[in-house]
Amino acid sequence: MSEVMDNGEVHDVEEPEMQSDIEEEDEEELLQKALKAQEDPAFYEDAAAYWEKIPATVNGMLGGFSQVHTPDISSSELYIQSIFKMKNPPGHGRAADCGAGIGRITKSLLQKHFGKVDLIEQCPNFIQQAKEAFKGSKKIGEFVCQGLQHFSPPPNTYDVVWSQWVLGHLNDRDLEQFFRRMASCLKPNGVIVVKENVTSSGIVELDEVDSSVTRPLQLLLSIIEQADLKVLKNSRQPNLPKGLYEVRMLCLRHKDQ
Ligand SMILES: C[S@@+](CC[C@H](N)C(=O)[O-])C[C@H]1O[C@@H](n2cnc3c(N)ncnc32)[C@H](O)[C@@H]1O
Repeated sequence: MSEVMDNGEVHDVEEPEMQSDIEEEDEEELLQKALKAQEDPAFYEDAAAYWEKIPATVNGMLGGFSQVHTPDISSSELYIQSIFKMKNPPGHGRAADCGAGIGRITKSLLQKHFGKVDLIEQCPNFIQQAKEAFKGSKKIGEFVCQGLQHFSPPPNTYDVVWSQWVLGHLNDRDLEQFFRRMASCLKPNGVIVVKENVTSSGIVELDEVDSSVTRPLQLLLSIIEQADLKVLKNSRQPNLPKGLYEVRMLCLRHKDQ
């Protein structure tokens, strides 16, 4: 069950029931396939090769669902405002847009809220497009052309690390390490925001086309816990077209802060 809050967020008020229309034996087979794929170095190589061929456009970033852009940004706007209203909110100094693509989120959201935004993206074509689009902008800090599995900024760098629709490209181990590194590069009161698809089948689903996995919320939360992070906010993105994965927005911080 869920309830819609004044700010448009949807909060679960009960643990959602695990619903699955996948037979148990298929479930085990699919799980093993997804685990095996993530351990293969080709998991990263195939993803990089896939994105190299995708047009550097908003439609390309959204897998052909460009109609998702407006509700996505509107809901992220409300979400970030609610983060700034939290007790001990993050500052407005510097943000990282992780898996930034062409800078869709930086352009429509992050640059309004932060003095500087760094874009971290492994596909050179997208970085090139972003450099042209943001030419002369004082809001853009660095363009980092690197996989998130290697991204390791120094301590005390970011107020907000925003990761959206990219973390399914990291295997579970790299995702935990990514979370740990991001937590240790935050400024005081800094937060990590995750906005990712989650499965309703309760199992990890492998996408062999773009070489990514979609995790169930329970698995995402368990990786977050293993990385010694706590969840400050956990909301569902409303207003998405039917037939798409549920999208979760999570706001995280180190558990000792
Ligand atoms: C679905 S697009 C989303 C782009 C952007 N976050 C947005 O919402 O507009 C996924 C992006 O993740 C990038 N990506 C894939 N694997 C990555 C990795 N290991 N490290 C960094 N970026 C990666 C792709 O090149 C692509 O730009």
